[in-house]
Amino acid sequence: DAKIAIAPGTYSSITELTQDCDRCHRCPLGDTRTHAVVGRGNLKAPIMVIGEAPGQNEDETGLPFVGRSGQLLEKILASVNLTTDHDVYIANINKCRPPDNRVPTPIEVAACLPYLLEQIRLVDPKIILLTGATAVKGITGDKRGITKIRGQWLEWEGRLCMPIFHPSYLLRNPSKERGAPKWLMWQDIQAVRAKLD
Ligand code: URA
Repeated sequence: DAKIAIAPGTYSSITELTQDCDRCHRCPLGDTRTHAVVGRGNLKAPIMVIGEAPGQNEDETGLPFVGRSGQLLEKILASVNLTTDHDVYIANINKCRPPDNRVPTPIEVAACLPYLLEQIRLVDPKIILLTGATAVKGITGDKRGITKIRGQWLEWEGRLCMPIFHPSYLLRNPSKERGAPKWLMWQDIQAVRAKLD
């Protein structure tokens, strides 16, 4: 029940948090999911990528970013030698798939956010990449469009964050020309790599 708070410090491991997500009904998405999708990657990664919500492939497998968007995300990370085995942990604003992949409602985001805040605390990343407007809004509250703020370093709760395009947006905009979204993404990921080194 979303009215019952999840205090910071509730979980001592991602395993414990996952057990609660697997039986969560804090919002209506708990009624329609196949699997809660918590995260994947290195639990001690210096970079955390936060997406929106599981799609069909993720709902089926219980793992985030395993469909077409995920493959593109891995390719973008690999272009600067970043991997989910070593450098990156991936999670989402919402742990459960919204019907028809609609954008999660503010109520659904609010109900799920305490889990993500606990994930951030436990993984303790140096850098957080916010993919797409839902992730930016969910974490920082900034409602500006992603085109305006992508590539800018923000500070949130003492952590470095960068809004970046969502890979699904890049799938819909495949041009690699100078100044196109894909070109900008490759600039952004290089800035991330430079900040890590
Ligand atoms: N898109 C997201 O935002 N998250 C996923 O896990 C998959 C696709």
